[in-house]
Amino acid sequence: MRLEGEVAIVTGGASGIGAATCRRLAAEGAKVAVCDVNLEGARAVCGEVDGRAIEMDVTSHHSVVTAIEKVAEALGPASVLVNNAGTDQFGFFKDTDEDLWQRIVDINLIGVLRTTHAVLPGMIERGGGRIVNVASEAGRVGSSGSAAYSAAKGGVIAFTKTIAREGARHGVLCNAVAPGPIDTPLLNRAPAEMGELGQKVVDTMVRSTVLRRLGAPEEVAATIAFLCSPDSSYVTGQTVAVSGGLAMI
Ligand code: NAI
Repeated sequence: MRLEGEVAIVTGGASGIGAATCRRLAAEGAKVAVCDVNLEGARAVCGEVDGRAIEMDVTSHHSVVTAIEKVAEALGPASVLVNNAGTDQFGFFKDTDEDLWQRIVDINLIGVLRTTHAVLPGMIERGGGRIVNVASEAGRVGSSGSAAYSAAKGGVIAFTKTIAREGARHGVLCNAVAPGPIDTPLLNRAPAEMGELGQKVVDTMVRSTVLRRLGAPEEVAATIAFLCSPDSSYVTGQTVAVSGGLAMI
């Protein structure tokens, strides 16, 4: 029960890594705000945890600010923020356009900035907090079929380091996880979006891991829980790979 008394916001909590994180943080004692643009999905996850399902679209400033207020009313001020909401639309860069880049960067990078901007001042005022950003190995080593996504995730890693620097004197620790290929609806869409090549891209990712398998959402959630807990009190600004050894940097 490392997270007893904590109030955790998990964005994109309705599915995949976010849903596993909600379950894990709740199992460790946190009250969890399951925040997602998909309210029905958030409600389903919330049924299994001590917390609230709250509608939040990380691409909208109004939606983020309103959701954070609702969390504070329902559960109390957030001491933990997991910026997990993200998406991709797989396709080779030459086949993409500016609309797609804008959409992918808005969700995966600006969404993290937006949510952090809404939560960080309260953490500073209360003298501390934990922020964990779900980046990706794509942001460190690149990923075929995910150029805008990789660029956004690289930005998340740099943002994490900066918030760690700015937050340190206020007791706010900020870290990231960099998952490799994880068995979730997001990854499982790749073959359909890229045709036969999509399955090849996923197979190549799996072969690039030294453990030679997909990861489970729960394996990422376990590392996120560590980074939210007192066990990581001397860890900040780091990007922890949960990728079966895909990259060793
Ligand atoms: P998922 O598709 O299963 O879940 C993503 C969740 O984010 C969904 O519930 C979706 O409704 C929500 N979401 C999407 N747009 C949103 C928005 N604008 N506002 C609020 N919520 C929104 O995907 P998965 O795989 O669980 O992804 C979670 C995070 O992990 C993402 O940041 C993703 O980039 C990252 N990741 C996933 C990897 C994988 O192989 N599955 C690998 C590396 C990183």
